[in-house]
Amino acid sequence: MPLVPRSRLIVALDLMDGYEALSIAEKLGGIADAIKVNYPLILSAGLDIIKDLKKHGNVVADFKVADIPNTNSLICAQAFKAGADAIICHGFAGSDSVKACIDEASKYGCEAYVVTEMSHPGAVEFLQPHAFELVELARRAGASGIIAPATRPERLADIRRKAGKMKILAPGVGAQGGEARRAIDAGADFIIVGRGIYGADDPYEAALEFIEQLRR
Ligand code: XMP
Repeated sequence: MPLVPRSRLIVALDLMDGYEALSIAEKLGGIADAIKVNYPLILSAGLDIIKDLKKHGNVVADFKVADIPNTNSLICAQAFKAGADAIICHGFAGSDSVKACIDEASKYGCEAYVVTEMSHPGAVEFLQPHAFELVELARRAGASGIIAPATRPERLADIRRKAGKMKILAPGVGAQGGEARRAIDAGADFIIVGRGIYGADDPYEAALEFIEQLRR
């Protein structure tokens, strides 16, 4: 199912224990718009965890796919067959590689999102100088959306201006220092929060607090 902004919160479950991840997903009780899975969870719990997480809502597979088109198609097919609703791929591998992810997504009625400028400090070294080109690449390829940094709201706002109708998912809120409200005000459609929720004493209350910040 395509991502629709309701709470505007996506929770990243970067845990190494599948049972813990499922327990948090259950506690969240569907208040987030999606759960995001990444390699730490998939490599420790296996791809089938996606099927179990899907009982609690949409699942985004943050596999940052960045290979040749054929390999990208094969990776995406595995994610979608496992039940993922969306895939995250890198744009720097080029438009044909991105297109392969988008084409595979559309076969399954799913979505592909393209990384532009990442949220961590090192992103300014190579990705930032090309971020606008990556936005344009994603737009032309027909991506559903892009990933842009909540840690740099002024850059997020610039990227928003170039992104047209594409949805923007913004990681970096909480542990990396980004602020939920500022990211949405800068033009993000969703914020992505990992440690700020799964690392909290009460992940449900923490998620609720982020959602409240977005409503204010
Ligand atoms: P934390 O714990 O920092 O987790 O809230 C953030 C989650 O999002 C991922 N992440 C990114 N994914 N582009 C992406 O596609 C980014 O710029 C980016 N920054 C963080 C991170 O791997 C974790 O799952």
